[in-house]
Amino acid sequence: MALFKEIEINVPFIDLKRWEPGLHAALMDKFHAMTLDAQFIGGTELATLERRLQVELQVAHAVACANGTDALQLALRAGGVGDGDLVLVPNVTFWATFEAVVNVGAKPVTVDADLADGGVCLDAFSAAIRAVRPKAALLAHLYGWGSARLSALRTVCREQGVLLVEDGAQSFGVRYLGESIYRGAHISTTSFYPAKVLGAAGDGGAVFTNDAELADKVRRLGNHGRTTHYGYGDVGWNSRLDSLQAAFLNLSLDHVQARIASRRQAAAYYHEHLPTAGIELMKAPAGYEENGYCNVCLVPDAKRKAALEAHLKAEGIGFGNIYPSVMSRQPGAAAYLKGHFGGQAGEQLCASVLNLPLFPYMTESELQRVVAAVGSVLGTRQCH
Ligand SMILES: Cc1ncc(COP(=O)(O)O)c(C=O)c1O
Repeated sequence: MALFKEIEINVPFIDLKRWEPGLHAALMDKFHAMTLDAQFIGGTELATLERRLQVELQVAHAVACANGTDALQLALRAGGVGDGDLVLVPNVTFWATFEAVVNVGAKPVTVDADLADGGVCLDAFSAAIRAVRPKAALLAHLYGWGSARLSALRTVCREQGVLLVEDGAQSFGVRYLGESIYRGAHISTTSFYPAKVLGAAGDGGAVFTNDAELADKVRRLGNHGRTTHYGYGDVGWNSRLDSLQAAFLNLSLDHVQARIASRRQAAAYYHEHLPTAGIELMKAPAGYEENGYCNVCLVPDAKRKAALEAHLKAEGIGFGNIYPSVMSRQPGAAAYLKGHFGGQAGEQLCASVLNLPLFPYMTESELQRVVAAVGSVLGTRQCH
């Protein structure tokens, strides 16, 4: 028994060091050449990255920027959102979605979650549009898929003249109705934070749109509002993605489909093997092909959830709670929040969510170990 314990491996929540063979050496060669040549800002790596993102994500325009939070702010500012405007925000999302609204001078109104998919509740969203006539709305495509009602959410915004910004920080590689989720968006964003599906060697982000004018405005705002080198058509800021990050992302793009395939395999393993009692495994709604960004378990019984988390910790298995609290209850929200629509499904989701390890190239023995640990607390899988 003692020997068995000693050889058991820890399973991290995420492992960013599982590089493909040859990737690190290729990166060192590239960085060596680029630094000798002082290729730091703009240049071919950045242009290549934007072109590849357009093709990969089926969008007409891709503008890289400094991070995913800036991408949201650029999209809002380019869409004319500013001082005092009301903007709908999902109550379950990463704080940056909320923050971006405040940082452009607008006022957030939160919308409750839909427990079925983690997106916003369509009824609450539509009611909020009718009641407060917001200038814009944000959606966040969490977990590796999007809302089951995404088409309807897009339609209601289009019909009501509400700018819809889709936060796709977690949805690189997600397919909706047979195409990239970014393709049907009016304007959308992503993050290249290292833990994302396409991660940089630091921070990065991008804005996507099929509207040439919006894309120009985003590009200008993210480069000091420049129209010429010393001519400024807008007050923007510096949100450029540097060339070394672009080079790293170009190398990673060569492998991103293999990484997504591996993530999907791990997600499928959990669906096949996790216990069925005491735990609900969320999955992508009909119409979606998920990217395997994260595993999402709901454990509604607080005592069982605490026991499971304690056991995972004792076993050296990482886990997450994405996200443990809604936006409207964050202490930092109080000064800015202008209302909430819908009920408290978001609170319910946050109280019960537990994410098991999921990252590219997880081994079968790691997956088995996670499933066994969950099974030893909740019981093994029931056969129906
Ligand atoms: C849903 C969501 N929105 C926005 C962001 C912000 O991205 P970044 O960390 O690149 O600023 C993140 C990532 O952390 C995210 O998950």
